[in-house]
Amino acid sequence: MIIVKVGGSVFSDKKGEAENFDEETVRRIAKEIAEFYPGKDFIIVHGGGSFGHPEAKKYGIRDGLPEDWKSASLKRIGFSLTHQAMLRANDMIVGVFLDEGLPAFSVSTSSIFLTRNGEVVHGDVEVIKKLIENRFIPILFGDVSLDLAKGIDILSGDQIITYLAKMLEPEKVIFLMDVDGIYDGKPGEGELIQDLKRAEIGPLLERLHCTAAGTDVTGGICNKLREAAKIAEHSEVWFVNGKIPGRLGGAVRGDGFGTRIAR
Ligand code: IPE
Repeated sequence: MIIVKVGGSVFSDKKGEAENFDEETVRRIAKEIAEFYPGKDFIIVHGGGSFGHPEAKKYGIRDGLPEDWKSASLKRIGFSLTHQAMLRANDMIVGVFLDEGLPAFSVSTSSIFLTRNGEVVHGDVEVIKKLIENRFIPILFGDVSLDLAKGIDILSGDQIITYLAKMLEPEKVIFLMDVDGIYDGKPGEGELIQDLKRAEIGPLLERLHCTAAGTDVTGGICNKLREAAKIAEHSEVWFVNGKIPGRLGGAVRGDGFGTRIAR
């Protein structure tokens, strides 16, 4: 089994207008997966991009539900609007996969996961296991979540993957991004790290001065690296450029270009 994260910046321009969708890239990703399916099983998890992030930020979903009724009411509306934006992204991605003859099936993350301060505390993986057994390709997504500590929060696609990797022990987890992999410094300035060891992730996080960046409510590359450290306990992890044809296929085969964290 292979879990693929389609980062929000791969299928949409996070700095562009609301809900822009790069159908051409998603179609190419589906075609690359079709080269390996049904020989290999896949689970897809996509991010928010220009769909979920602007709404999540606008309504301050990460701050949880406040005490007073009036501001909580507005938050509840924002919670649902953020989810609806994610459903629209998911609908487009699932649509492209179906169009390419892949049996993609949408799984609404917020209906099967519960969090505590953004970390998964419960996930109903039985449905996902059954979908795989029946040769479907489940497509989940970063979403809003019901949170045991704050009432509501955001659950990032990366965190979902950490949980799924722990429960399902996939052979590989591949993160598709809009850069070539993990850099020791800023993308384009620092050097691309092609082979990264688990033990090197901590010092790298320090060198990268990891703080939340830009419009990304879930913490960008730093969060990815922290999650990768956990995932690498179970699976091989790859970070590759999802915008460039063949990079996903290369990671699936194991001879690709990007950053590889061996198990
Ligand atoms: C965020 O998911 C989901 C919402 C904002 C609702 P991710 O954190 O996985 O999204 P990307 O990949 O960074 O866009």
